[in-house]
Amino acid sequence: MLDAAFATQAKAAKHFTSALVPYIPHIYFASALWSVKMRALNFIAAERPAMSFNALYTDLSGYYDLMCADIDYQRQSAAAMRLHQFFGSGGHTHLDLACGTGPHIEHFLQAGYQCTGLDLNQPMLDIAGQRCPQAQFVQQNMCAFNISEPVDLITCFLYSLHYSGNIDGLKACLRHVVPALKSGGVFCFSAVDKNKIDNSALLRQHARHQHSHFVFESGWFYQGFGDEQQLRLKIQKTTQGVTELWQDHHPMVAVSFAELKALLEPDFEVVMLEHDFEKILPLAPDSGNALFVCIKH
Ligand SMILES: C[S@@+](CC[C@H](N)C(=O)[O-])C[C@H]1O[C@@H](n2cnc3c(N)ncnc32)[C@H](O)[C@@H]1O
Repeated sequence: MLDAAFATQAKAAKHFTSALVPYIPHIYFASALWSVKMRALNFIAAERPAMSFNALYTDLSGYYDLMCADIDYQRQSAAAMRLHQFFGSGGHTHLDLACGTGPHIEHFLQAGYQCTGLDLNQPMLDIAGQRCPQAQFVQQNMCAFNISEPVDLITCFLYSLHYSGNIDGLKACLRHVVPALKSGGVFCFSAVDKNKIDNSALLRQHARHQHSHFVFESGWFYQGFGDEQQLRLKIQKTTQGVTELWQDHHPMVAVSFAELKALLEPDFEVVMLEHDFEKILPLAPDSGNALFVCIKH
């Protein structure tokens, strides 16, 4: 199930319970066995460089919540709030980076947080705004963002930090997180270690929606060197016996946990935990799927 996957590809990750799927920049494959139509997601056929994430999520926004239907956002949010209570220094102002359609923010609001959601993609934010009218949403790039007042808690769920693209983007993102957090504030995010990715592992998820059957497949791929890993995605939609297929891969930043920790340590006390939303468990040495809790000096 989705809520247990994606990152299952991080070898030896024993405890993760969440994860996901999403994304689709361009279609590069169409099996002759299937009828391939582009209308549904408005995608562009034929091989070409990955479209911008913004264009991707514009196309995907209407399907996003369907793909994430099995993710237990309530449980993830509760876990992040517990970690904030435990490691933070109080306060209830919250910024969710790459917030998507706002599924976590909904739960933070219910718990009394004052939330801002930041995302690159306006259609995702439009859905978030409808879901959470009490929150504020801003369209910005997390690699170059500014907010008016520092907050007590910054989150970035579903491995979205990897969307900072490359190592310079990641460094830029972290540089912008620092002034956006109060001293003693907590930056909590999930990440995978590039050296622990199992390229052969795939997550498969099924869903029904409006007379169609969907199969979502996703997997991480790391070629073994450099700072780029890919998210590979396949979506199959079958309606009345006709199947449409989208397949894509797109680049994301790849780091080892040691590298990531080293980038964070100048500004944060870094606590690396198993990707477990039930228990607070120190990260096992062989685990490639983590929840980072970073307390600003
Ligand atoms: C996998 S979704 C995660 C959404 C949400 N956090 C969740 O857990 O469902 C990734 C999100 O990252 C956003 N995104 C990608 N690159 C971004 C960037 N550079 N700055 C801000 N948001 C970005 C996308 O628009 C998308 O909404």
